[in-house]
Amino acid sequence: MNARDRIIVPLDMSDGERAWLTVNALRDCVSWFKVGLELMNMVGAPRAAGLVKRQGRNLMYDGKFADIPNTMTGAVKAAVSHGADMLTIHASAGWESICAAVAERGSAKILGVTVLTSLAETECLSIFGDMPDRKVLQFAHILSDSGADGIVCSPQEAQTIRGFSKFNSMIIVTPGVRPAWAAANDQKRAATPAEAIRAGADYLVIGRPILKPPPEIGSPKNAVERIVEEIESVK
Ligand code: C5P
Repeated sequence: MNARDRIIVPLDMSDGERAWLTVNALRDCVSWFKVGLELMNMVGAPRAAGLVKRQGRNLMYDGKFADIPNTMTGAVKAAVSHGADMLTIHASAGWESICAAVAERGSAKILGVTVLTSLAETECLSIFGDMPDRKVLQFAHILSDSGADGIVCSPQEAQTIRGFSKFNSMIIVTPGVRPAWAAANDQKRAATPAEAIRAGADYLVIGRPILKPPPEIGSPKNAVERIVEEIESVK
């Protein structure tokens, strides 16, 4: 896959006009944008999705749904009708809810969020009773057994997942990606773009390093070009 097609830029902003301009500025350098809870809750999910789809780009609809199967069915139908190409649900919603999402996905890919990349090991242990690696693996089994198309996990766990042939056909999307020149922010289980690709990630969600690059990097477009070069350097 082309390096540009592996980068997903999250529109983590509350202003629809700014989101439109961001897609417009980057649409020739990347093919995927993600709309998430901030933009959807501020401007409404159909409008948020339209900001990407009307500019001809692919849409990752990061709704992070976690609800009972009946509600999951309705929510996934709605997201698909807004043009989602990838759609996120929480793996912790369980088999029946994941199956309900899969049944309504149409041509969208259902991705299961496992352990948020903002959780450090100790917090993961206290919430889920296990270390991130083991917990993500357990979630990956649930997702695969329920027919989901992919997994959202940190680059650090991508390698573990790729060690099992059972998950060969699953898409791995990794947030928590930080080039060496960018700040970690609130991401605790982070890795560089090159490390994430080497670990077996298919797509990288990279937000603040692109949307607010350090002055020495330049514009968001310059940041994307640096990341594309880094991905292309991986043999
Ligand atoms: O700015 P940054 O690169 O940290 O943005 C990461 C994006 O990925 C955010 O939109 C966040 O909601 C999303 N995400 C995440 N961790 C997950 C799932 C999604 O950071 N496990």
